Amino acid sequence: MKRLLPSGLGSPAKFRVALRGALGLAMWTAALGIRPVTVAAADTAAPIAPAISTGTGLLLEPPLDLSKFTREWFEKDSATVGAHRIRRPWTNPVVALPPHSRADVRGLTLDEVKAYMVDAKARFERGEAIPVSDVGLVSTQEDVVRQPMLNHIAGFSNDVVRVYLLVQKTATDTGWSHFSIVQDLTRKPVLDYYAELKSTGPKFEAHSCHKCHSSGPFAIHPAREDLVLDAPLAAALSRHIAEQPRSEMYFPPDQPRGEYGPAMSMKACARCHSEDGDRGPLYRENSHPIRVMVDFGYMPPNRRLKPDEVAELKAWLETEERPRANAGP
Ligand code: HEC
Ligand code: HEC
Repeated sequence: MKRLLPSGLGSPAKFRVALRGALGLAMWTAALGIRPVTVAAADTAAPIAPAISTGTGLLLEPPLDLSKFTREWFEKDSATVGAHRIRRPWTNPVVALPPHSRADVRGLTLDEVKAYMVDAKARFERGEAIPVSDVGLVSTQEDVVRQPMLNHIAGFSNDVVRVYLLVQKTATDTGWSHFSIVQDLTRKPVLDYYAELKSTGPKFEAHSCHKCHSSGPFAIHPAREDLVLDAPLAAALSRHIAEQPRSEMYFPPDQPRGEYGPAMSMKACARCHSEDGDRGPLYRENSHPIRVMVDFGYMPPNRRLKPDEVAELKAWLETEERPRANAGP
């Protein structure tokens, strides 16, 4: 869908005028045999750009060939989670949760965080979530699993939390795993809790999540345009995630914050990804999502890196393989 309307057209009256103009244009272009442009509502999130490698040389493995995975396979395998739980009708991509039980809460307790995680899973099971279903690009590419990673991602919120649920499996798995992120909005800065939801309950994790989740929840990037069940929903949830408040990761006592070395200072990235930027700083530990996001043309947004910038990024990433090289004797 192309966005025909400039984003300033907020008011319904302005929108109607623009819509009439667009319809006139559509008739006119149809008469000329030109394909009319689809008009997106002014508040519709821009569609997620398709994942196409730009051949930067940053990937460590060739882009994965997914051609034998058809749309039909994807729909069928996604539905093994329970067909009634996915493809749900929606108007808001984020499910509204009831207000928090404690008024004026300042800092959720660990039990409250866990309760939100368990509740999100229960809502999903009952078919009360609005999940986006896709094959995720970042987990599928490179050496992570090297096969399609099927995701169902649902968002929930009230005044004190943003809760995310990820229900995930690889193409060859039969069972689904559950993960959650809870953002405690009552803390400054916002604090993000990560957990795997095991049969015994949520288990807080940090180290195994930090290498990809450098800024908190990760915006949606499907591996292929047809490997997503509801593209407008994916775009809407992705925008909600991309515009999240700046936050910090909660490190449980058994997983204290690691030594991540210096944050990336390359201007092309650090003007947004830094302590005082829109997104969190990037470290060499984040090399996997960095390689994928830049190679597939998502980062930086709205432009491509110049060859000398790619070379600079590559050199910085490669020092990762020998982190102690400059560490002295
Ligand atoms: C290999 C990189 C990687 C690792 C490691 C990883 N994630 Fe994610 N995660 C992602 C990506 C990418 C998405 C968005 C997927 C998509 O585009 O469909 C995501 C999505 C999620 C979501 C849904 C909300 C959101 O962020 O979009 C949750 C919840 C989540 N991950 C939890 C976790 C937890 C908990 C851990 C650690 C136990 C973890 N993840 C480790 C890459 C990763
Ligand atoms: C204009 C601001 C801006 C610049 C410049 C920018 N990014 Fe981002 N980056 C974002 C936003 C916003 C997101 C979340 C939206 C998305 O993932 O599409 C993001 C997401 C990411 C992610 C996924 C993890 C996360 O923070 O959600 C990685 C990795 C990333 N960027 C790497 C880079 C690298 C490497 C560069 C430099 C080559 C760069 N970015 C330049 C704004 C920026």
